[in-house]
Amino acid sequence: MKALVVEPPRPGVALRDVPRPGLAAGAVRVRVLEVGICGTDHDIVEGAYGTPPDGRSDLILGHENLGVVTEIASEGVGFAPGDLVVATVRRGCGECRFCRTGQSDFCETGRYRERGIRGLDGYLAEEYVERPDYLVHVPASLRDVAVLLEPMSVVEKAIAQGEKVLERKEPTPGIPADRPRRALVAGTGAIGILAAVVLRLKGYDVVAIDRHGETTPAATILRAFGARHVDAAAGLGGVGQRAFDLVVEATGSSTLDVALFDCLAVNGTLVLTGIPDAAAPPAPVATGRLFRELVLANQAVVGSVNANRTYFEQGVADFASAERRWPGTLGRLITSRRPIDQFADVLAQRTGGAIKHVLQVADAAAGTAGPGSSVPRFDKP
Ligand code: BGC
Repeated sequence: MKALVVEPPRPGVALRDVPRPGLAAGAVRVRVLEVGICGTDHDIVEGAYGTPPDGRSDLILGHENLGVVTEIASEGVGFAPGDLVVATVRRGCGECRFCRTGQSDFCETGRYRERGIRGLDGYLAEEYVERPDYLVHVPASLRDVAVLLEPMSVVEKAIAQGEKVLERKEPTPGIPADRPRRALVAGTGAIGILAAVVLRLKGYDVVAIDRHGETTPAATILRAFGARHVDAAAGLGGVGQRAFDLVVEATGSSTLDVALFDCLAVNGTLVLTGIPDAAAPPAPVATGRLFRELVLANQAVVGSVNANRTYFEQGVADFASAERRWPGTLGRLITSRRPIDQFADVLAQRTGGAIKHVLQVADAAAGTAGPGSSVPRFDKP
């Protein structure tokens, strides 16, 4: 079958023929419909992230997946051919208490694996085989947006973590809050916009910032979801100092991470989801002022990565709510859908105003590369 393959830490990616996976006992075979591309995929293609499976140099890329069940190893797996499914990404170490209870997103040993990222093949292939407990049902009504479910799960988890911290200072039961909660979302890629969606569904007043002006698709879509968009190219001065109960960061800029502390309200929580470049040059930080204010204002900063299946399920429920409240708006996050053969063009454009590029696998695969064929390796300049 055709698959998009990387060889981390070597930069580059290629479409190759790889063996079709066998159907293990109790497993489910899934035909991949489409896969979204995110910053993590770009990092892997650039050679800055990613690990092949043990004993191999190659790794099938792709983790933001949507597929359709084609075969089940036995009855009773909870899925039937024709079901739409999204697979979770992380596979636990099997040792720690979190991995043993379905919360590998909190793995303590660090010996987890992630499909398409670390130690396990991903979903940018015609098919994959998986255990049913790693598959999440998607209703057919969400077909057009379900490829966004994996990033949505990351957002659901991150916001849940922030809200757990905010709950420290909930008003006394029976005494209503005197104002809606205020949230700031930093970054308007798919993660940032989906965070704005979840926060709007929860009733927050939402401000979303980037540095790309007011006329981008992201700014327009955010307004459609009832969020306020602010161009922060000139800095955070006009955004609101000490104004936000919850700040969700989705850029991966460590400089911005530090600057965002100034936007936190008293008792506020900053949730970081972007993964900064560990090799970014060090920047001076006024640590005395930063931590003094953090303590005196009861503030917290929380990192959040990955998501377990409960957050995928919450994402399905919130997609349904969002589609009812803002019909058709979620689908506008998808900048392009292109056949997998056009992977080089898609991977060459890292942002440039795009929100989510999607590679189509199932329909695109039919009748293109046959056994033994491959397209030239694409290496970044
Ligand atoms: C994925 C997560 C993963 C993280 C770190 C993200 O792009 O969505 O599932 O845990 O990268 O590898």
